[in-house]
Amino acid sequence: MRPLHQLQTATIAIFCTAAAAKRAIDLSTLEWTLSSPVYNISVPGRVPSQVHLDLYREGIIPDPYFGLGDFELRWVTLTNWTYNAKLDGLDTSTNLSTWLLFDGLDTFTSIELCGEYVASTNNQFRQYYFDVSSVLGSCSGPPNLSINFGSAVNITADIANEPGQETWPDWVEGLFEFPNRQFVRKGQSDFGWDWGPAFAPAGIWKPAYAIQLPSAGIYIRNSLLDIYRQGQLNNLPPDQAAPWILNASLDILGAISSTATLAIEIMDMSNNTITSGDLQNISTTSTSVGGSITVEGEACQLWWPAGLGPQNLYYFKISLVDGGKTLASVTKRSGFRTIVLNMTPISTPQLSQGIAPGNNWHFEINGHEFYAKGSNFIPPDAFWPRVTLAKMKQLFQSVVDGNQNMLRVWASGAYSPDFLYDLADELGILLWSEFEFGDALYPVNPEFLDNCREEAEYNVRRVNHHPSLALWAGGNELENLELPIAEGADPGNGQWRKEYEQLFLGVLAPAVFQNSKSISYIPSSTTNGYLELNFSSPIPIIQRYDNVTAGSIYGDTDHYNYHSDVAFNLSSYPVGRFANEFGFQSMPSLQTWQQAVLPEDLNFNSSTIILRNHHYPAGGPFTDNFHNSSLGMGEMTIAAELYYPVPNIADSVANFSAWCHTTQIFQADFYRSQISYYRRGSGFPERQLGSLYWQLEDIWQAPTWAGVEYDGRWKVLHYVAKDIYQPVIIASYWNYTTGDLTAYVTSDLWSTASGSATLTWYSYNGTILAAPTTVPFTVGALNTTQVLQTNTNALPLSLKDAVLKMNITATGSLPNSNEVKIFKHEYYFHDLSLGQVNLQDPGLILNYNSTTGNFTVEAAKAVAAWVWLDIPAGTLANFDENAFWLVPSDGKREIGVTVKDDSIGGKWVKGVTVRSLWNNTLS
Ligand SMILES: *[C@@H]1O[C@H](CO)[C@@H](O)[C@H](O)[C@H]1NC(C)=O
Ligand SMILES: *[C@@H]1O[C@H](CO)[C@@H](O)[C@H](O)[C@H]1NC(C)=O
Ligand SMILES: *[C@@H]1O[C@H](CO)[C@@H](O)[C@H](O)[C@H]1NC(C)=O
Ligand SMILES: *[C@@H]1O[C@H](CO)[C@@H](O)[C@H](O)[C@H]1NC(C)=O
Ligand SMILES: *[C@@H]1O[C@H](CO)[C@@H](O)[C@H](O)[C@H]1NC(C)=O
Ligand SMILES: *[C@@H]1O[C@H](CO)[C@@H](O)[C@H](O)[C@H]1NC(C)=O
Ligand SMILES: *[C@@H]1O[C@H](CO)[C@@H](O)[C@H](O)[C@H]1NC(C)=O
Repeated sequence: MRPLHQLQTATIAIFCTAAAAKRAIDLSTLEWTLSSPVYNISVPGRVPSQVHLDLYREGIIPDPYFGLGDFELRWVTLTNWTYNAKLDGLDTSTNLSTWLLFDGLDTFTSIELCGEYVASTNNQFRQYYFDVSSVLGSCSGPPNLSINFGSAVNITADIANEPGQETWPDWVEGLFEFPNRQFVRKGQSDFGWDWGPAFAPAGIWKPAYAIQLPSAGIYIRNSLLDIYRQGQLNNLPPDQAAPWILNASLDILGAISSTATLAIEIMDMSNNTITSGDLQNISTTSTSVGGSITVEGEACQLWWPAGLGPQNLYYFKISLVDGGKTLASVTKRSGFRTIVLNMTPISTPQLSQGIAPGNNWHFEINGHEFYAKGSNFIPPDAFWPRVTLAKMKQLFQSVVDGNQNMLRVWASGAYSPDFLYDLADELGILLWSEFEFGDALYPVNPEFLDNCREEAEYNVRRVNHHPSLALWAGGNELENLELPIAEGADPGNGQWRKEYEQLFLGVLAPAVFQNSKSISYIPSSTTNGYLELNFSSPIPIIQRYDNVTAGSIYGDTDHYNYHSDVAFNLSSYPVGRFANEFGFQSMPSLQTWQQAVLPEDLNFNSSTIILRNHHYPAGGPFTDNFHNSSLGMGEMTIAAELYYPVPNIADSVANFSAWCHTTQIFQADFYRSQISYYRRGSGFPERQLGSLYWQLEDIWQAPTWAGVEYDGRWKVLHYVAKDIYQPVIIASYWNYTTGDLTAYVTSDLWSTASGSATLTWYSYNGTILAAPTTVPFTVGALNTTQVLQTNTNALPLSLKDAVLKMNITATGSLPNSNEVKIFKHEYYFHDLSLGQVNLQDPGLILNYNSTTGNFTVEAAKAVAAWVWLDIPAGTLANFDENAFWLVPSDGKREIGVTVKDDSIGGKWVKGVTVRSLWNNTLS
């Protein structure tokens, strides 16, 4: 076994040098009290934290994630809470100005200092700063800082009920537990979602400071660094031969003198200076100062996503200088790359390559098309303050270990903290980022739009320097879901589209375009792209919507179909340029359920288990949660029964565990079928160049679409996605209506690969039915090639007792590498339902080799379908491969394991078990 690959410590991206007289008191060092007079509660509180976390730590409430905490702790959500502290450590000299600086307040607050009102806030995502010098001046005694948090659920209900408030047609708002989330700038999934709980937490959820400045003092509260090619415009591929432009700007507290200038120094990771100079075209406002400089391309090495090249990074020190004195400086780690979402029309040369007319819809890194392989990232916890760097390192390591190069950071949680982008920069994970709007339409009154503008500008500027930042999207499922629902309910009314454009094209697009030339913007995660781009117009984008021509292909696709009877019918999958969401639920493992429910609840009929499934019917208010929760449970059960032998084991916990596992097999199988279909599309007229499945990871322990469970354990899906996201793959494509069966080799390398495929029919008892065929192939860059065409009705065998093993070996090179590599992959074609084939005891033998730290597994007697090595509770580890098939002639398969967390001191090795689908037939 190997230790987890050591990452460079994710460097804090920003460190400010404080000029002598400047003070910053970290408010986390104060002694905080959290209280509610209504409940007569007063306990120590923390910063950054949230009410639920503090109450849990102090023993006032049980673990919110246990059992039905989601429902039972609603009283916490429906209560006002106050955080109080004595603001110790201030310098009381009169010539200083004092500021309170909050990187995040969640959400509705009223702030008082020394008993005097300072301000109110209503946006979880903004940085707030208040000059409290005069309040302090009149303070008698030690200054008391008091922040009252109103109940977000109650306040949004009040806002929704204001006279004249905007309303929308039924079902436009995707409603889960608490309604009215569209009225508050707070994590939308805090009000409940189909994969998560509804705690709507409150608190000082990000760092906060008291800043004291002398009269010429400057404090940098946020900064922007934009690195792009000269002449580059958002959403358009730039000239890769052009020099780099570095545009930097600092947002400050204090007063900027008109003679101040900016200097920049670029250093490598060993702090050796590569180049330095003064920024030109300095522009100064009362709150910020910026300028730019040209850097010739040769000086610096490009940054690439994982699998496509190295992740070269540099430090950029930006200093504010006046009269030869450095007043303040900030150092950011960044990299040189261009990333564009290319939605330009399909060109004539592209048409001659066989690409269907319409628009492009794919990403280009440093001028190269590539295949985006990944998944959707949701909030990793309902309580962000407890999301640790260590846990996120594990998760992001799982992303790259899973052959993924892109995550879509879904729109309705919170903007990612810098440390997540830092990790992604180091590991080479592109983060398609989104503004926090989703599955609703939003108000457009001037106050709401201003609030959104502030939020967008702050976050765009905060994270723009990260080379992992791949895109800004306005929100989730707006053009393919919410707008059509509104327009369908009220045909001919242009109001909904006009309002949608006011926010998503009129406010958010300019927030990106005015701060960044390097990042593309789309208003909705799923979109047919634009008709026109005009950067001199106040609304720079004219959207295409459904103004389409038959036979042309435009946008990305979002596909859910819970009718599992068509799960493997390829005609049921969408044909588009890029798949940004698709999926199906599965149960978490027994080990994960044991963390969250009582032993007596470990069965499918447990109301606790059922109520933790939040996949309700589409739209609609859910008064009867229990009844509706069974929807998702039923869908998983039907799918398992359709396609697999289902467990019927006397021991009820073992039976529950086997059922959970079987739902995971269906999920993984369904995703693999779609991923291979989308990847093959890279060589079809749709020129499909991306697959991001729903969803990477879990927010809690529950039945969801995730591939990685709450504690980091890999479901069947994560292993299967790792397999099908390898650079060169083989997969079969079967039209079971006609019997037409093909197999294709698909490659996302940037140069040609060649090799051969071996196709072997086995009986389920392991006997080879006919001599293997070998098919040589050559597969072009980002393309696919057919290696089998037959019809299953014409074969001299019955699929009830025949399975086709297809394996390839190919020679090629990874992008940006001259090294010749061997790529291997295998895939089994079988009848639609493995519940109806002649499965028999494979005679699995599992061994552990203490010298190599590897396990070996073999199928001694017969074909083994879905071989699964299981890690016991208490240990977090993943195998190099899992959920594979074996035939007896494979002999022993050696499997490495990476241990990430082991609380039982190596004892887990003895607890590893192996099973295959045949175990489902045992009772
Ligand atoms: C919030 O509303 C609920 C009723 O929905 C009420 O019981 C509760 O007292 C309210 N909380 C506050 C702080 O007003
Ligand atoms: C709760 O806080 C909100 C917002 O500050 C305030 O309007 C409301 O009056 C408070 N309610 C109670 C019961 O304290
Ligand atoms: C994929 O390969 C085929 C066969 O060589 C070729 O005709 C086609 O143009 C290629 N597609 C692209 C997009 O390069
Ligand atoms: C549809 O798009 C075409 C350009 O492709 C444009 O000329 C036309 O005005 C659009 N129609 C509508 C209804 O927007
Ligand atoms: C499968 O065959 C049916 C019947 O001919 C046809 O309608 C369908 O489009 C085919 N599906 C695919 C994916 O080719
Ligand atoms: C395995 O199955 C094949 C095909 O049904 C059969 O011909 C063969 O005799 C079987 N072999 C054994 C050892 O049972
Ligand atoms: C397929 O697997 C068989 C058995 O392991 C092996 O003999 C053969 O060389 C493989 N074929 C290819 C093309 O890798």
